Amino acid sequence: MKLISLLSHLLTAQPLISAAGFSLLPRDVAATAATDKPVIIMVPGAFHPATVYTKVIEELEKSGYDRSVAIPLPSVGELVSRQQDIEAVRSVLRETLWKGRDVVLVGNSYGGTVIGEAVKGYKDGQDIFLPPPIMAGYKTGKVLGLVFLAGYLPYISEVEHPETKQDIKKVSPKFFRFTDDGKVLWDGDMANEPPEVTFYNDLPKDEAKQWAARLQFSSYDALNATATYIPYTGDFKCTYVIGTKDNSIPEAFARTYINQPGANFTVRVGDWDHVSMLSHPDKIALLIREAAGETSFDHEL
Ligand SMILES: *[C@@H]1O[C@H](CO)[C@@H](O)[C@H](O)[C@H]1NC(C)=O
Ligand SMILES: *[C@@H]1O[C@H](CO)[C@@H](O)[C@H](O)[C@H]1NC(C)=O
Repeated sequence: MKLISLLSHLLTAQPLISAAGFSLLPRDVAATAATDKPVIIMVPGAFHPATVYTKVIEELEKSGYDRSVAIPLPSVGELVSRQQDIEAVRSVLRETLWKGRDVVLVGNSYGGTVIGEAVKGYKDGQDIFLPPPIMAGYKTGKVLGLVFLAGYLPYISEVEHPETKQDIKKVSPKFFRFTDDGKVLWDGDMANEPPEVTFYNDLPKDEAKQWAARLQFSSYDALNATATYIPYTGDFKCTYVIGTKDNSIPEAFARTYINQPGANFTVRVGDWDHVSMLSHPDKIALLIREAAGETSFDHEL
């Protein structure tokens, strides 16, 4: 969307329908001003559908969070670049901030990399990609925080020295399988490390099987791309959530992100697996509410 057309839509109050399907009517802004809860924008990990967040969205609704959005990653099931994943998040983020709503972003696993890159340029509520809104009295929202659920994150050194970044083929878990045509799959060792072990070891067997059947390939281009921005060294309030039963990002691995000099995370540790939104949606909703500015629920984990 061209900037001019976005501005003219705002000024003339024409309905503007985004790719995500909600309108940017001033009426909508007024209607949502009744709640002070931020919008929660959630991103799944590699291979996963956005529906992994459905249970968490239901939990958040019970606490008055009227709008949570789980964004499907374009790189799940399609051979696209990371840029498309980032843009999918950024378009919803931008539209939400422009409506005056504050935002908390949540990313699971590779989704952590995507949300981290998507907030580049949005520090302190600024949008370096657009001039400030020109309607009198118009106030944009702010990014209140980022929550990394077993985030697979770029290291600070990789962004400072991109030449040191390793090919994902060298650093991925052993169960990843790479095809010649650019796909990455999770089925490299189905005898020992099926999804019921790597992703869903804290779910009932039947449910783990159902979610395993919904996995799709991810795009190697997207997973192997080099990050250009680190959000967790002071620009944004960041929470890293570790699962002690996580077989994909084990606690010791997660701590290699947390222990980097200059990294600043609020760390939360729970007794759960890699896709904690499915196994402990109640606890994950509490952690999101904490990141949104409610009191700490650490004692309830
Ligand atoms: C994957 O990443 C590595 C390290 O950044 C890079 O050298 C390589 O060219 C990438 N592979 C492809 C096919 O883009
Ligand atoms: C870490 O971040 C928190 C809040 O985001 C801030 O209050 C604190 O001063 C930061 N600590 C350091 C060492 O930068």
